[in-house]
Amino acid sequence: MGIRVISTQPFSDQKPGTSGLRKKVPVFQQPHYLENFVQSIFDSIAAPKGAAMVLGGDGRYYNRAAIQIILKMAAANGFGKVIVGRGGILSTPAASCVIRKYQTFGGIILSASHNPGGPDGDFGIKYNSSNGGPATEAVTEAIFARSKIINEYRIFDAGDVVIDKVGVSTLGDMQVQVFDPVGDYAELMESLFDFAAIRNLLSSGFAIRFDAMHAVNGPYAKGILERRLGAPAGSVMNAAPLEDFGGGHPDPNLTYAHDLVEIMYGGNAPDFGAASDGDGDRNMILGRKFFVTPSDSLAVIAANATLAPGYHKGLAGIARSMPTSAAADRVAQALGIPCFETPTGWKFFGNLMDAGKVTLCGEESFGTGSNHVREKDGLWAVLFWLNILAVRKQSVESILREHWAEYGRNFYSRYDYEGLPTEAAHGVMQHLKNSFATLAGAQFGKYTVKFCDDFSYTDPVDGSVSKGQGIRIIFTDGSRIVFRLSGTGTEGATLRVYLEAFEADVAHHHLDAQAALAELIRIALQVSELKQRTGREQPTVIT
Ligand code: G1P
Ligand code: ZN
Repeated sequence: MGIRVISTQPFSDQKPGTSGLRKKVPVFQQPHYLENFVQSIFDSIAAPKGAAMVLGGDGRYYNRAAIQIILKMAAANGFGKVIVGRGGILSTPAASCVIRKYQTFGGIILSASHNPGGPDGDFGIKYNSSNGGPATEAVTEAIFARSKIINEYRIFDAGDVVIDKVGVSTLGDMQVQVFDPVGDYAELMESLFDFAAIRNLLSSGFAIRFDAMHAVNGPYAKGILERRLGAPAGSVMNAAPLEDFGGGHPDPNLTYAHDLVEIMYGGNAPDFGAASDGDGDRNMILGRKFFVTPSDSLAVIAANATLAPGYHKGLAGIARSMPTSAAADRVAQALGIPCFETPTGWKFFGNLMDAGKVTLCGEESFGTGSNHVREKDGLWAVLFWLNILAVRKQSVESILREHWAEYGRNFYSRYDYEGLPTEAAHGVMQHLKNSFATLAGAQFGKYTVKFCDDFSYTDPVDGSVSKGQGIRIIFTDGSRIVFRLSGTGTEGATLRVYLEAFEADVAHHHLDAQAALAELIRIALQVSELKQRTGREQPTVIT
């Protein structure tokens, strides 16, 4: 027993992406692969001797093995304490919550979010800093730089640590504190929402269904919705976290959360449905036979925020990613608060929240959250909705219809073209950029182009500039088409086309989004030459 220093060779592919390092499980299982990356984190963050950190993951295949390796490496690298979720489990928002609550020197989260898991699936690892949010680009770049020259790592030589029982054990000079992964998070939720009102709602015959998709939120949803709030047993479905998510794709949208969608659109459907993803930070909200777009969900939460005790004083501001619809902007305007438009990715919200400029944040990609943590938070969004429903005592659909009548409706849809040849995808983007001059002022049926650009963002807190964040074609009536290349895809290129049309007239609010957006879709295909350049007739996924 003792600290061993192991010689190693660098791997060239350890550059963290949008959200940490994500690779196929067999890549992580190569000798030294995980160890090199973990040592690169420790070398880069330079935690003071005796520091504490948080450790946990979404429970996917390789989670448990990785936890043991990281514990032993933390002990050999001078940490004084590691706080581990029981069974190695911690949802991403719960990890953020615990880092903040116990003021640790950040934490390591093991997750590949909504990507499929299992022996041939994906695994991932990322470091979150002491504000509870994903490490900034400066830190991830330092980790990558280190990974390219690393030649040894330190690991404590000992048997495996028991992580399935709450309690404290030691590994050399380091304490390992195994804690209930749900408790602190549930307590935070209880401080934000009116649990008594939600309890009343759920005991009055209001039926809910939450699809945990065999992912990390199962224990959280059971613990909070069923045990603390009294939803009948079985309200949480697919509740047992499985290492391969039951073979499913743990992404809460109308395509992948099909078990839930069938129930919510079937006979005798529950009043409210929701789902979250592999690591619990995404959410989808459904009413009976009714889908709430994530952009609308953000706007409704903003408009009704003061109904929840944690937000009764109102909002400092709202932030949304650029492709997210402007529905939240209309609410911000009515409330007289600022609305920030940031590039895609949660990391751009951190500075705004830390500076107290925004309370709520959201992305069209099923991400909603607030300054209670520094990650998006799936179950938080579900509880916010239940709190609103408990106070307003209306159906999800009628809340949306009233919202549109008051603010107008932003019809919205996203078309994803996945696995495109990289050159063809870049060709579409280049062609669009070359067309900016001719597009300005051009008329397409009822739409006239007001302006087009490649979105650039200047962070109002630290002044940093992020360029090339997506092509926008903005029409005079506020409708938009946005083209972006995905930053998380693993095979070829994924081109996303975001479509948004504003409709003030309540007589048209009942329309189906695809019908309302048909003309914009035609314009998008025409101006981008997408079909000709990629050979693709149809998108892979429509959300
Ligand atoms: C996607 C989403 C983006 C989200 C990110 C991480 O990124 O579009 O909103 O922040 O996943 O969950 P993309 O693949 O578009 O770069
Ligand atoms: Zn996720």
